[in-house]
Amino acid sequence: MAALRSFRFSPGPGLSTAVVVGEGALGHLARELPRIAPGKWFVVSSQPVFFLHGERFLREAAAAELDPTPVLVPDGERAKTWQVLGHVLAELIARGLRRDGGIVALGGGTVGDVGGLAAALALRGVPVVQVPTTLLAASDSALGGKTAVDLPAGKNMVGTLHHPRLVVVDPALLRTLPDRDFRSGLTEVVKSAMLDAAFLRRMPALLSPLKERRHPAVAEAVFRSLRMKGRVVASDPEERKGLRFALNFGHTVGHALEQASGHRLSHGEAVAWGLLAALVLSERRGGLDPLLSERLFGWVVSLSEPPSLSRMRIAAWPEFLKADKKGDRRGLRAVVLTGPGKTATIRCEAEEAGEAFREARRRYNTARDG
Ligand SMILES: NC(=O)c1ccc[n+]([C@@H]2O[C@H](COP(=O)([O-])OP(=O)(O)OC[C@H]3O[C@@H](n4cnc5c(N)ncnc54)[C@H](O)[C@@H]3O)[C@@H](O)[C@H]2O)c1
Ligand SMILES: [Zn+2]
Repeated sequence: MAALRSFRFSPGPGLSTAVVVGEGALGHLARELPRIAPGKWFVVSSQPVFFLHGERFLREAAAAELDPTPVLVPDGERAKTWQVLGHVLAELIARGLRRDGGIVALGGGTVGDVGGLAAALALRGVPVVQVPTTLLAASDSALGGKTAVDLPAGKNMVGTLHHPRLVVVDPALLRTLPDRDFRSGLTEVVKSAMLDAAFLRRMPALLSPLKERRHPAVAEAVFRSLRMKGRVVASDPEERKGLRFALNFGHTVGHALEQASGHRLSHGEAVAWGLLAALVLSERRGGLDPLLSERLFGWVVSLSEPPSLSRMRIAAWPEFLKADKKGDRRGLRAVVLTGPGKTATIRCEAEEAGEAFREARRRYNTARDG
């Protein structure tokens, strides 16, 4: 068994999150869950994820004589509703959740978000353990404590911060992910690398094994992504100092494209385009070395394989950009890269972001046709 990598950080006063990554990490649960909460455990998951990996999870739990009760939610974004949240809470209570119990969220980012929110609310809060099964969740959303459901008015409109006590990533669970989801997750990985100079230096060696989905490389990239995020979250747990805002690199344009495409672009695909635009903007406004920018551009194209936008109806995207909730009356706020692992937050007009995106499209087309 490859070595497990782990670290621990404090996401706020009196709080602690442990992270364990690697082949066989699931085995860690048996030891840790009873330490976190001695009472009854629940596992919130979705039907397809539980079908694929639930049995294995329950087997690991049984090793500690735990018998977690499954509570299943609809698949994908349909899990993140007020109604589903209410249903989950009712199930948890009806089936015997007590204050000495806990909740494992086993699934992608959607399961993590609704499971985390249920854990924050049930009995005024019980511990949550995140066991992500998508690369996006494993490298990004499982850590940081953000939980949410959607409202008709928009995504993630209701939620709270509830930090997981433990995040366990076993790359074996990611083996069943469709390629498209895996590539989407790689977008968050490459974003994380840009925000961490040491990770960035490792990337050349990780590029082809990541593309080939080799476990040791996936585990290392996930670990480095989470450690980078852990450091940022620890430095600004409640997003008050603006440090955590750097994690939005590529997401300003990315979110607008995701919405304008009516979600035909996945989050990772849209953010891949957002990263390409952000690199152009970083050269213009952050003084990013054009040679470094060009290399990073190539990595995003190679790992995320952002789809060509020629047949995508995204004309309305500047409208979504202007409505960006990270902006205010004084205009958009965007993150630019100023050097390896270094960022700055700038104000920019939607028009300027739009022009950076058009330049990114030109470069993408030239690279592809050339
Ligand atoms: N809390 C945060 O900090 C944060 C950060 C980023 C994104 N998010 C949220 O995360 C969500 C997106 O997460 P996601 O991309 O993981 O989507 P997801 O949870 O919908 O999962 C995507 C699909 O993959 C399937 N799946 C999951 N694991 C699988 C596996 N191992 N094998 C095969 N199929 C599997 C699921 O059934 C689903 O259909 C969004 O709702 C977004 O708002 C939250
Ligand atoms: Zn993202």
